[in-house]
Amino acid sequence: ADAHKLYKSKCAGCHGQNGEKLALGAGVPLKGHSAADLEKMMKGYLDGTYGGNKKTIMVNILKKLSPEEISGLAKHIEGF
Ligand code: HEM
Repeated sequence: ADAHKLYKSKCAGCHGQNGEKLALGAGVPLKGHSAADLEKMMKGYLDGTYGGNKKTIMVNILKKLSPEEISGLAKHIEGF
């Protein structure tokens, strides 16, 4: 799937159209991180090595995505 459409439909509601928001008041804004760091965070949610108090929200979202969709999203967000 197209990373831009995926971000708008599945991520922007909490993280902001340009990754500028603090999702549900938690974590850090996505904007400003490299694709490599974003991908590491997302893989970390999935393997249990990353996350704060609200990590379950992200685990449930990310486990429905393919590795290709996750790396596509990381590259897309890096461009914000
Ligand atoms: C954290 C990406 C959808 C809520 C994060 C982080 C990334 C990320 C990279 C790590 C940054 C940090 O440590 O704060 C994405 C992507 C999404 C998505 C690519 C779409 C596929 C959502 C949605 C919600 C949400 C829809 C709200 C329902 C959160 C929260 C955190 C977080 C609350 C901090 C969780 C924690 O305690 O570790 N997200 N997110 N995210 N995201 Fe998302």
